[in-house]
Amino acid sequence: MGKKKILVTGGTGFIGSHTVVELQQNGYEVIIVDNLSNSSIEVLDNIAKISGIMPAFEKFDLSDQILTSAFMKRHSDISGVIHFAAFKAVGESMEKPLDYYRNNLMSLINLLEGMKVNKITSIVFSSSCTVYGQPDVLPVTEKAPIKEAWSPYGNTKQMCEEILRFSTMANTLKAIALRYFNPIGAHDSALIGELPIGTPNNLVPFITQTAIGKRECLSVFGNDYNTPDGTAVRDYIHVVDLAKAHVIAVERMLNGKCKLDLEIFNLGTGIGYSVLDMINAFEEASGEKLNYRIVPRRPGDIEMVWADTRFANSELGWKAEKNINEMMLSAWNWEKALFSRQPK
Ligand code: UFG
Repeated sequence: MGKKKILVTGGTGFIGSHTVVELQQNGYEVIIVDNLSNSSIEVLDNIAKISGIMPAFEKFDLSDQILTSAFMKRHSDISGVIHFAAFKAVGESMEKPLDYYRNNLMSLINLLEGMKVNKITSIVFSSSCTVYGQPDVLPVTEKAPIKEAWSPYGNTKQMCEEILRFSTMANTLKAIALRYFNPIGAHDSALIGELPIGTPNNLVPFITQTAIGKRECLSVFGNDYNTPDGTAVRDYIHVVDLAKAHVIAVERMLNGKCKLDLEIFNLGTGIGYSVLDMINAFEEASGEKLNYRIVPRRPGDIEMVWADTRFANSELGWKAEKNINEMMLSAWNWEKALFSRQPK
């Protein structure tokens, strides 16, 4: 029997590229669709360097219904879909809400329509712990209430989950929504990693760019939170652990093991680290001293969140394996690799 073919949308992005590698290493054939709006074509070569296999690739925008429908007609042999492609910057979504709704909702709708025509019944969707807002109870379980969204970005994740819920009720579609906590780190090979365009919004790329000299100083957003050291607490997870969970989720669907039409899993480690913990972890892993200062809170930030991972552990048989030191070391090795590749 030939390899099963998985469509990975957003497959040249940060989490997408790591997932493509894991899929290939587990015997799947991958076809990537990405419009390269926030990623680079060279990622394909680097995926091939790691896995020895160049993934098939098509560049187009999934929010274009005609192009998406034509693509699906040309690829009737796809067994399952992992849908990463989306805009993801919280701040930008506040300035351009309609762009976020159009892009993130339309691409999912077009994809689901194409899947229906081709009778593809399995989709894994990239969701986020942002759907919980500031949870009342920690660690947060999948049963925690969805809170009013704080940004259009977060709202699109909630709406996409709802679109999936009602779509699975209407036909034979099965969906798994994976709610990521804070994905960081990079592949051990340092060939793929996070590639923020412009100034990074997220903590770890800002830390590594500061340490390499691209940024002068890290701003720590607030030290007056009600947390042990006053800085905000998150559940950081290694991107390779996250990627592996996608392979397990796809396999679960293809093997008919889903217990509900829409299943939802938290993907985190279950451990909360503060911003100052993260700075210490970076300094320890890298041996570098980090320049940072405390500034006021960033609007829209929640105080603390970490995952209850028991459901994912027991039901998926998956557990995050890499610790904070491995996360930081791989992020730092990736930053150094990027620096050494720069034209001097
Ligand atoms: N932080 C800083 N300085 C920075 C960047 C971040 O102190 O320069 C702090 C933030 O205030 C926060 C923590 O580091 O306390 C993590 O910030 P990130 O921006 O890396 O991550 P967030 O938790 O804010 O964002 C993540 C995901 C989003 C998601 C959001 C929901 O990246 O996709 O959680 O809360 F929407």
